[in-house]
Parts: sequence; C-alpha cells; structure tokens
Amino acid sequence: MSQESVQSASELLPADVRIAVKDVTCTYIDGKEEVHALGPIDLEIHDGEFVCLIGPSGCGKSTLLRMIGGLSLPSSGEVDLRVADPTRATATVFQDYSIYPWKNVLSNVRFGLDLAGVPKREGNERAKRYLDRLGIGDRAKAYPSALSGGMKQRVAIARALAVEPDILLMDEPFSAIDAQMRHVLQDQLLNIWQADRRTVVFVTHSIEEAILLADRVVMLSNRPGRIIADRRVEIERPRDAVSARSSKEFADLHDELWELMRGEVQRHLAESGDLMGVTQ
Ligand SMILES: Nc1ncnc2c1ncn2[C@@H]1O[C@H](COP(=O)(O)OP(=O)(O)OP(=O)(O)O)[C@@H](O)[C@H]1O
Ligand SMILES: [Mg+2]
Repeated sequence: MSQESVQSASELLPADVRIAVKDVTCTYIDGKEEVHALGPIDLEIHDGEFVCLIGPSGCGKSTLLRMIGGLSLPSSGEVDLRVADPTRATATVFQDYSIYPWKNVLSNVRFGLDLAGVPKREGNERAKRYLDRLGIGDRAKAYPSALSGGMKQRVAIARALAVEPDILLMDEPFSAIDAQMRHVLQDQLLNIWQADRRTVVFVTHSIEEAILLADRVVMLSNRPGRIIADRRVEIERPRDAVSARSSKEFADLHDELWELMRGEVQRHLAESGDLMGVTQ
C-alpha cells in the first residue's frame, strides 16, 4: 500500500474508524500452486480499540497484519487507514524480537526516530522515556546479546511505541517468552495501553491472552481465514490481570471461543490430518 493511498483513504473513512479492511483476499503463488491464504475479510477497527486476532495456525493472521501495516498488498479488496502522519502510521512488533544485535538498547529504540528525522536529543529523550515505561531504562547501554528474551522483546516494544504510531501491530509478540515473563509483559502492555489508548491489532494463539488484553476478539477460520467470531470483551477497564482472569465474563467468553476454535481444529484434522497449534 502506497503512502498516497493511505493519505487519500483517510478522507473516505468515518471519523472514528482507524482501519477498514474491505473485501480483502490474499492468494500466494507457491511455485506452480496457488495458496488461497485469506478472505474475503471485512473488518473495521475503531480509534483507540485493542483488537486481538486469533485463529488456527496458517489461517492468515500474519498475512492480514502485514496488509494492515502496508508490508504486503491484498490480492483483491483494499485496506484503508486513517492516519495523522503517513510516516508513522503503523509500527510492528514481531515474535522474533527483530532488534539489531550491533546496536545498543538505546540506539535500537532510537532507530525509527532517526529514520523519521527526529533530532538526536529529542530522539534520545523519547527513547529513554519508553525504555523507562517498560522498566528497562537502566539497560540503555547494553547490547542485545546481554539481554534475556523478555528484555529483547521489551526493547522491540519500546522501539515501536517510541515512534508514537497511530496503529500498533503486534504479531505473537509474547509467544517465544516463558510463561512468567509473558505475564509481566502482558501487565506492562495493559498499563501502557490503558494510559495511551493507541489503536492496537495483536495476533495471538492464546485465547486467554486475547481476552485479557482486548476490547474485541476476532477469530478467523481455518485457511483461507474468514471471520467466524467478533466478540466484545465486557471486562471493565482499567483491568488487572488477576481479577480479569477470575471473572465470570472471562470464563464465559473463554468457553465460547474455545468451542469455536476446537470446532475449527477438528474440521481441519478431519480434512487433512495436519496438526494445528492452539492453546487455551
Ligand atoms: N510467501 C508465501 N508464499 C506462499 N504461501 C505463503 C506465504 N506466506 C504465507 N503463506 C501461506 O499462507 C497461509 C497463511 O499464512 P500466515 O503466515 O498468514 O498464517 P498465520 O495465521 O499467521 O499462521 P501462524 O499461526 O502459524 O503464524 C499459510 O498456509 C502459509 O503457509
Ligand atoms: Mg503468523
């Protein structure tokens, strides 16, 4: 998606809509084979909404996220974004940390700001502020090789946030992190989001993580992914993880989504015999 299309599309969207996915499909060409990966999908995400995308492995979650981020184009349909400044429309956090090993923590966080032409002093201040918010301000001079996985991912999150994007995209950002640290990062993200209310699209395999974090959980079917559930999470904000997890709303929605997911997995197994990743 070009920057022009992002800019012109903004004019066409209702005032409270940040992301409009309209009749989008994606078909990959893999050698001689066509892989219908996704869609058709119609989805509107509102300003300040936290939306979690869940669905079986290979159903097209990352594909959809990449299209929202302009990293790949739909085969048909369109993705429109309402953004204030096309140079910081979206920032993405991936599963595999994707920080530069040869740059120290501060330089990694400042990287996007350098690209955007933010003056060095302001860039340093902003980078430090976000590192502090993620609780790793004291590691600013460390190199990634000296950091744990959880810390590296906090650097990647700080880097994305420091750009102050209109839309934060996160593709299974906590799935490579051990369970304890994952809870810490979920809490930090909840706190930061509750303070900033940025629009977030967050992909996860975990139904539990989706309900804990999201305003809305959108579930995709087996490939080609289509929306089979779009549920509002009625747990009040600000949320704290412990009471959210023990609420009736959490249990009811978890059961409903788990049944749907199980149905998809069983359907896929019946059709192909493949194993699919899904966690409660
Ligand atoms: N570049 C590509 N060429 C061919 N097929 C692709 C390509 N990228 C993805 N696919 C296929 O498209 C489908 C959707 O892929 P995608 O990575 O979006 O799924 P996903 O839901 O993110 O999966 P996972 O849960 O495993 O991360 C998969 O079947 C995948 O194998
Ligand atoms: Mg993926």
